[in-house]
Amino acid sequence: MPDAVVMVAMGVDAERHVDDLLDLAWATGATLAHLQGRDPSVAAELDRLRATGATSVTLVPASLGHRAPTRTWLRRIAADWSRRHPDVRVDVAGREVTGREAPLTSAAWEHVPDHARQVLVCRGPRCSARGAGETAAALDDALTVRGLGDDDVLVTQTGCLFPCNHAPVVVVHPEDTWYGRVGVPEASRIVDEHLVGGEPVTGLERPRVRGAARR
Ligand code: FES
Repeated sequence: MPDAVVMVAMGVDAERHVDDLLDLAWATGATLAHLQGRDPSVAAELDRLRATGATSVTLVPASLGHRAPTRTWLRRIAADWSRRHPDVRVDVAGREVTGREAPLTSAAWEHVPDHARQVLVCRGPRCSARGAGETAAALDDALTVRGLGDDDVLVTQTGCLFPCNHAPVVVVHPEDTWYGRVGVPEASRIVDEHLVGGEPVTGLERPRVRGAARR
């Protein structure tokens, strides 16, 4: 039996399920950590458990949310921690982490993708409460349908971008075009008309940039 069990929320939008995950973790005697987007991180939780004297920890990936990364990512991150703390045995879903797993770095992740545009999707608290998770998923799906990858459009989820009254907020760069109230249909329009068609979408809510002419 491990000294501790940690449920790991894998997706960046897992906060939509955080109450359920916390209930599940509590009911099973586990704690909750996050692969990305929220604290505690996996490394921070492993640090905390080690400080309490744990010598064996089981990580259980919970792949909720949109396109959560595979558990290979969790093994890489656990291995990165294990190499620095060989006194604690870590396993991921019952498979021991050996420390020989792939590192966190790779030649494939050296350069910024050769993208034409970057799209910021606000995942701050108010945008998330107004459905930014669905917005992000819809953007992702529409880009995939259009065959656009990171080399075309780099989508980045962010913290609060400030004009929360317009939640959910999406920004397209380099044009610096701000869109508000971007739900699923609006996300599809942004992909079709702006990212593919090259023209800012008309008729959508547009938060104004203070002190600047409306773009
Ligand atoms: S939470 Fe999205 S703009 Fe503030």
